Amino acid sequence: MYKTHTCGQLRKSDHGKTVTLAGWVNRRRDHGGLIFIDLRDRWGLTQVVFNPDVNEEAHKIASALRAEYVVKIKGIVNERPAGLENPEMETGEVEIIVQSAEIINAAKTPPFYINKDAPVEEKLRLKYRYLDLRRQRMQKNIILRHQVNQYIRNFLTQEGFIEIETPILFKSTPEGARDYLVPSRVHPGKFYALPQSPQQLKQLLMIAGYERYFQIARCFRDEDQRGDRQPEFTQLDMEMSFVEQDDVMDIVERMFTGIIEELTDKKLLFKPFKQISYNEAMDRYGRDNPDLRFDLELKTINDLIANSPFKVFSGAVARGGMVRGLNARGCGGYSRKKIDELTSFVKEFGAKGLAWLSVAEAGQAHRSSFAKFLSAEEVEAIVQQLEGEAGDLLLFVADSAEVANESLGRLRLEIGDRLDLRDNNVLALTWVLDFPFFTYNAEENRWDPSHHLFTAPADEDIPLLDSDPGKTKGKQYDLVCNGHEIAGGSIRIHRRDIQEKVFDLIGLELEEAKAQFGHLLEAFEYGTPPHGGIAPGIDRFMMLLAGEENIREVIAFPKSQSATDLMADAPTPVTAGQLQDLHIKLDLEK
Ligand code: AMO
Ligand code: AMP
Repeated sequence: MYKTHTCGQLRKSDHGKTVTLAGWVNRRRDHGGLIFIDLRDRWGLTQVVFNPDVNEEAHKIASALRAEYVVKIKGIVNERPAGLENPEMETGEVEIIVQSAEIINAAKTPPFYINKDAPVEEKLRLKYRYLDLRRQRMQKNIILRHQVNQYIRNFLTQEGFIEIETPILFKSTPEGARDYLVPSRVHPGKFYALPQSPQQLKQLLMIAGYERYFQIARCFRDEDQRGDRQPEFTQLDMEMSFVEQDDVMDIVERMFTGIIEELTDKKLLFKPFKQISYNEAMDRYGRDNPDLRFDLELKTINDLIANSPFKVFSGAVARGGMVRGLNARGCGGYSRKKIDELTSFVKEFGAKGLAWLSVAEAGQAHRSSFAKFLSAEEVEAIVQQLEGEAGDLLLFVADSAEVANESLGRLRLEIGDRLDLRDNNVLALTWVLDFPFFTYNAEENRWDPSHHLFTAPADEDIPLLDSDPGKTKGKQYDLVCNGHEIAGGSIRIHRRDIQEKVFDLIGLELEEAKAQFGHLLEAFEYGTPPHGGIAPGIDRFMMLLAGEENIREVIAFPKSQSATDLMADAPTPVTAGQLQDLHIKLDLEK
């Protein structure tokens, strides 16, 4: 062994011991005679002292050391004299008086600081990820991720779950994104698809009688990247037989509460988790993944302005749309420039404009982009509806319900940021329930499943599948935290006839359904237990547990925004021979 102790281990009680430590040079201070080094490994830092009077040769070696050199030292643990302890370091009561030292490996000057958390361009961090991962902040995140995975495995094992691996080379399971395809060499012209999730396989495991399954599963989706999306990401994939919605939710709630309380110092805002319906989430927050750390709810003013001469408002209502608003508390003093910023912000989400009103003291005229088009009574009714008080800024979008909700829902988060209402130390876990079973796809003239193909409709709504599919509710539950969807799940269809009806409604011909899902439809006929499950996104949950803004911060080797690996440089072209083996000819645009 290169070391008898880690760099985070030694204490006052070890005084006098001879020890060997090995690690990286975190910092070197040359005090003329004495040279001090903070030696670092994954467990911490230990101060080591090179004194020319103790060992001249070791002291010479110390003069040559630079940041990130890998060294091994042997020495004696010394309790630091009173007043020289360093309370910032766990090992701050001691130092090692070096007797001999050996440089194991020299290091070039790193492209960025490793021993402090200074801002670094992300491209550079991803290119030198192995150096980035040496930084304390990243080590903390990666170690926390290990602890969370470990907690999950222990917890679920105790609850009677077993961990089963499922294939990566499989067949497309639609979860709404594009597939990553893998060409087959032995079956020319045929492709495997990397799983968007193990959805079908875990249902088949229920049919196979395993009753409680989990897997920390890698999933692959070729979709546009965002801060909380990666092309490959990790789900805690779970499935249970003979359960109702509440049983699945209960397991996840107990597990997540334990993780948060035992492994982090984050504050759990709702205990038990809050529950709201999809409709309520859309109505109050404009999104099905609302951030409930703060209020600032959206309000509808359709009934107040339907007959108004201000066509921006009344026209939207006449076209079947909505006029919705939100009260940015205390932002009444915003300049035109700041309001223009907010207007550009909502335009990114499809809004045509942003009408605004800055609430004045009683008896004075409000500053506003639209009040002049309305009667004083109409204006006061609107101010009341939004509970506007002097100094507030009321912001409105008139558009289709979708655009009004999307743009104002986003604006609400933006205002939440500006007003500092989104504290990363607080976790607001919320179940969103009672989703519509279908959403209508006007472009394709068909119903799309709002979760996925295998979700069961509410029992009492089964007749609606024939009469009024749009009114059907699904047995779907999402877990939302701080504005992110961190888990999605459902009770599944376990009868062939209902599954076929759903295929039919989403416009999947029976023959095509059989080609794609024949194995599942057939399996349904061999004794299928009622079952359901869920899949928390581990990366997103970890991001929130670590207080980070981006899932790349909790993934050891993430892809960049444009789905590339900047360190290894992937994807890359392959040789003509490899393509030939796969019977693939490229047809690239010049
Ligand atoms: P769903 O598609 O909702 O459900 O995914 C479950 C959870 O996975 C996370 N997630 C992602 N995380 C990072 N990058 C991505 N590209 C990404 N896409 C999804 C989210 C999401 O809530 N088979 C179903 C689960 C089930 O029904 O049991 C499924 O995959 O946190
Ligand atoms: P205009 O009459 O076009 O100058 O618009 C008057 C005010 O209404 C301006 O503040 C515009 O930004 C705003 N506005 C225009 N279209 C919309 C819309 N669809 N929703 C909300 N506000 C709008």
